[in-house]
Amino acid sequence: MDDTLNDQPDPTVHGALKWAAAQLQHLPNPDLESELMLEFVAGEERLWLVTNLDHILDKSQADRYITIVNERAGGQPLSYITGQKEFYGRSFKTTPEALIPRPESEVLINQIKTIVQRKANPKILDVGTGSGCLAVTLACELPAAQLKATDISPEALKVARANAEQHKVADRILFLEQNLLLDETDHYDVIVTNLPYVEDHWLAASPQAKELAAEPRLALSGGETGLELIEEFLRQFALKRSAPVVLLEHGDEQEQILVPFAKKLLPEAHIRSVQDQFGVNRVISISINE
Ligand SMILES: C[S@@+](CC[C@H](N)C(=O)[O-])C[C@H]1O[C@@H](n2cnc3c(N)ncnc32)[C@H](O)[C@@H]1O
Repeated sequence: MDDTLNDQPDPTVHGALKWAAAQLQHLPNPDLESELMLEFVAGEERLWLVTNLDHILDKSQADRYITIVNERAGGQPLSYITGQKEFYGRSFKTTPEALIPRPESEVLINQIKTIVQRKANPKILDVGTGSGCLAVTLACELPAAQLKATDISPEALKVARANAEQHKVADRILFLEQNLLLDETDHYDVIVTNLPYVEDHWLAASPQAKELAAEPRLALSGGETGLELIEEFLRQFALKRSAPVVLLEHGDEQEQILVPFAKKLLPEAHIRSVQDQFGVNRVISISINE
């Protein structure tokens, strides 16, 4: 593979892109990804790329490009290669220690902004913060909010802290290693949580699961049913009632099990399903009278 580029007497931007797209044919967007990776290696924007197709890459750039294209061809997620992913219009550091933020989780931010709009100093808990994309985005969007962000993974918490520092909101987020709500004694205006919800048998057998192999299993596995952690969270919430509102992200069609499950634990609660930007039921919102 290396030879394809090295053999080229003229390793131009155009030549490199063509070579990379051929290596990435098995992926859904080979042209786009080839461009993104070359922008990353060259430290340039797309406009530079398309207006410099005859530019000759220097050897270190060409070598680096070959390495990362091969990594991508082997299944490494683009966000782990570039070390960043955009979420709600901001750039987040991504490493294999934390789940890559997903666009469908952005619906949680919109919902919370509406819920707390009349609160002067909203207190928000993010359970299973991972990269910190939810807590950090909320801190940026709601400058008077105070947040606590918890995770059972100390490695993920380091990534989350780095993201809070990068976005200059670390002074308003308390990061804590914590198992669900077990040690929780505080009270909040809202709790948000995007816990792992993938079924173990799907992770083990589905061809699509290969795309998830580089991400932490702790961030994906929801046990055999996919719902073990979410259900445990709901049991603990029903006992502690640490907030009047909980927003909980879930997987495709899991609301069909989760809504009746939550209703049984919290018979007086008002529970509604919220769709993501793709029109899929993605979140359940649980409101209780305290
Ligand atoms: C699906 S990821 C979500 C990360 C991030 N909130 C997001 O939306 O991208 C779930 C996170 O829950 C954490 N987690 C798993 N089990 C947990 C537990 N028992 N208590 C707290 N966090 C847990 C994982 O380490 C992971 O960071």
